[in-house]
Amino acid sequence: MNSIHIKGNGLLEGEVYVQGSKNAVLPILAATILINGVCIIKNCPEISDVDCMLGLLRSLGCKADRDKEQLVIDTSAISESRLPGELVTCMRSSVMLLGPLLAVCKETTMNYPGGCVIGERPIDIHLQVLGKMGASFILEKDSVKGRAPNLRGTCITLRFPSVGATENGIMAAVLAEGTTVLRNCAKEPEIRQLCDFLNKAGAKIYGVGESELIIEGVKKLNPITYNIEPDRIVAGTYLLSVAATGGNAYIRNAPFEEMTAVIDVTRRLGCEVTRTTGGILVKREGRLMPVPYIETMVHPGFPTDLQSVLIVALAVAEGESIVEESIFSDRFKIVGELNRMGANITVNGNRVYIRGVKQLYGSDVAAADLRGGAALVLAGIMARGDTIVRNCHYIKRGYEDICRDYRMLGACAVGIG
Ligand code: EPZ
Repeated sequence: MNSIHIKGNGLLEGEVYVQGSKNAVLPILAATILINGVCIIKNCPEISDVDCMLGLLRSLGCKADRDKEQLVIDTSAISESRLPGELVTCMRSSVMLLGPLLAVCKETTMNYPGGCVIGERPIDIHLQVLGKMGASFILEKDSVKGRAPNLRGTCITLRFPSVGATENGIMAAVLAEGTTVLRNCAKEPEIRQLCDFLNKAGAKIYGVGESELIIEGVKKLNPITYNIEPDRIVAGTYLLSVAATGGNAYIRNAPFEEMTAVIDVTRRLGCEVTRTTGGILVKREGRLMPVPYIETMVHPGFPTDLQSVLIVALAVAEGESIVEESIFSDRFKIVGELNRMGANITVNGNRVYIRGVKQLYGSDVAAADLRGGAALVLAGIMARGDTIVRNCHYIKRGYEDICRDYRMLGACAVGIG
């Protein structure tokens, strides 16, 4: 499927089930390298980034089998420490293999990671953290070669709470000699899930959920079975979608606790949001209100991954809004496409100025990244007339089946080609 055809039809009503978390399962799959044996990962989303990570694990000599949402990963026969360029460049998360490979194979070579073009994606913090633990790197034009005869625990303060660099630091430290103190760590829920996975396998990570983590190196980790939690960004996509179109929906197994900033903004947009035992009820019957100013922030602030969807909602709010993107340097790629659909949005540096319009109009638009692509599907649902969203392979990186999900909410969206 590389394009999605949508008949604009306004209100969303229905019930949708939230898939397992992409940004939790990817580092956990990388962490299986640290465990010599067979791990079972349950509730894994069926998305192309997971397929890419499984391909990387297989290229190292691991066995990786999938039966729908269950993965069986056998890392007992790792025979390679170099990663194939074509797979690494297809996904930013390949960089999360750096720490585990240095910990287990003592060396690795990989291309600079690829992924969505949402701005500069340097890996200097990853290299800073691993370097402080004793790794050395040779940076070539397209690739990085790392060596670490024996990683040692130490105290490290990250210059920025990078999610991936925090995850690499944790994975390098769990089998290192001595104790590592990581300061200014990212606190995204996916970090907690990685720590939970590793502690269940026998690691000694303390301060989980905090910005300072203390990790006592252990000799070995043991294979486990682990259940991936629901994806807070997918859940937030559908919460904000109902805000944008109006209507009401039940977002089953949405992780309410991890979505406070998104829930707050959804309420400011004019929605009623109610927690239930099994998920979130969201309803908007009245006006779609503007949000005068909001900034994307590290957790628990408003997540950058929902910035595109929020902009689409604000495009038809009754007033003016400003959204500031403080995490990535080039994450407003959908603005041009939205303005072609009748929106009135101006980009100035890392801010967008949105003047709400009455209606968007169907058009032929192209996704340029994962979350922007999802946001364009929402724009098509809100628009009058038909919309085609092209380059939908981006969306498949993080959403199992966005057409299925939106159809569960009453939309008319069909994947083609
Ligand atoms: C993770 O990416 C997520 N991906 C991203 O989700 C998410 O947007 C991001 O965290 C922020 O929350 C996964 O978890 C697989 P960062 P990551 O390192 O780890 C700069 C999605 O849509 N930086 O926290 O790559 C970087 O350029 C994706 O699901 C450095 O300068 O994010 C960025 O500006 C998109 N040097 C900022 O930090 C480094 O060494 C945040 O990046 C590393 C990062």
